[in-house]
Amino acid sequence: MERLADEDEVARWLREAAAHPGGVAVLTGAGMSAESGIPTFRDAMSGLWSRFDPAALASEEGFRANPAHVWRWYADRREGVRGAQPNAGHLALGEFARRHPGVLTVVTQNVDDLHQRAGNTDAIRLHGDILENRWLEPCPRGRACAVTEAVAGEPPRCAECGNLVRPGVVWFGEMLPLGAMEAAEAAVRRCRVLLVVGTSGAVWPAAGLAGTARRAGARVVIVNPHASEIDGEAHAVLRGTAAGALPRLLASSPNTD
Ligand code: APR
Repeated sequence: MERLADEDEVARWLREAAAHPGGVAVLTGAGMSAESGIPTFRDAMSGLWSRFDPAALASEEGFRANPAHVWRWYADRREGVRGAQPNAGHLALGEFARRHPGVLTVVTQNVDDLHQRAGNTDAIRLHGDILENRWLEPCPRGRACAVTEAVAGEPPRCAECGNLVRPGVVWFGEMLPLGAMEAAEAAVRRCRVLLVVGTSGAVWPAAGLAGTARRAGARVVIVNPHASEIDGEAHAVLRGTAAGALPRLLASSPNTD
């Protein structure tokens, strides 16, 4: 069962793990970007799913039923991501990767680009990229579609076959990007410490990575101001925030003060 640890002990684990290639893995969720002003999904009141219907907005059925409505919702979220900045937690992870080449793997459920902008350009994206687009389905004519008309507030479409452009994110019920989970599982099996930051642990298969790491012998540390569904997989639980705790945990030397 998890126990509430202190940060100095976890920081020591991380310094020891930093001596080994692939020694540290981090699994992040929406809480990682909360201090950058990007709303989470399940936080009471502020979470997106407390204000919007995920089935209508984060599913292929929802998009097909009302493409313009879903497209506009993602356009608003994209604007929020573009206006956001990496927070001190993202920057601490980017700096750690710079100081310890080959040690850190970032696995994220987030679809923003804040890890990448902070320097973790090789972060494994389990749920896609909100700034990317792709076609809703293969072209029925068996060849590449071309966006020939874009109407404001509507998803672009191919005038020849009617195919629609959709956001490049993984919707509920969809497969994860090819190879993403395999790469994530390899990273958490290899690591000596897995930091799990800012996720409720409500969505699988991402949530299963904590148990996979633990069974492979890694120390699992959760950083979250609130309880999550996977706290039971942790060797240590730190009730803190991404921007507050990560700079201290990932500092290059023990706190002297
Ligand atoms: N620092 C760290 N954690 C935080 C912070 C913060 N500043 N603020 C909130 N949290 C925590 C919350 O306590 C919660 O446990 O972040 C977690 C956010 O949980 P969710 O909103 O469920 O987000 P996430 O776990 O990433 O959701 C997983 O669900 O809807 C899908 O595809 C979507 O990738 C998403 C997936």
